[in-house]
Amino acid sequence: MKLPIVAYGDPVLRKKATAIQPDEYPHVKELIGNMFETMYAAHGVGLAAPQVGLSMRLFVVDATSFEETEAELKGFKKVFINAEILEEVGEEWPFNEGCLSIPDIREDVYRKKTVKISYYDENWKHFEETFTGMAARVIQHEYDHIEGKLFVDKLSPLRKRLIQKKLNDISKGIVDVEYKMKFPAVKRGR
Ligand code: NI
Repeated sequence: MKLPIVAYGDPVLRKKATAIQPDEYPHVKELIGNMFETMYAAHGVGLAAPQVGLSMRLFVVDATSFEETEAELKGFKKVFINAEILEEVGEEWPFNEGCLSIPDIREDVYRKKTVKISYYDENWKHFEETFTGMAARVIQHEYDHIEGKLFVDKLSPLRKRLIQKKLNDISKGIVDVEYKMKFPAVKRGR
């Protein structure tokens, strides 16, 4: 089942998400399936639970469509539950990022090259793994979501000012988007 994606301006995107316990969410696999379906329909490579209105430390990624050109994305389809970044190292490098909650805006964001992360997969198997390059980038972006952060937070004050009207418009639903979204500032009945 496809879920509506929460748009910029919704307070759920600003909350630090809480860890989940295996017995607390017996239907977590169903939710994960729905998140993948939602992400694919919107042509995204990552989706975090707050983006579907749930303040849980859960995100999914699938960047295997780029595995031909980016070696580190080979087989990069994963579920991250209760993720904690343990270490971020290396040179910061820029990449033009976008976000399904912030449609029609793409900006260069600087992030460190390598990330070491602790997480559980959909079967509650624990991992401590190191990712680099584009794989690290996708994880860092989604991890920010479960920390209540968005890529636009990382822009210079000038860039931020230049996109502020567009951001306000998104929260009001004034944006062309081909997937289903939930806009925080849209009055009921409009
Ligand atoms: Ni995002």
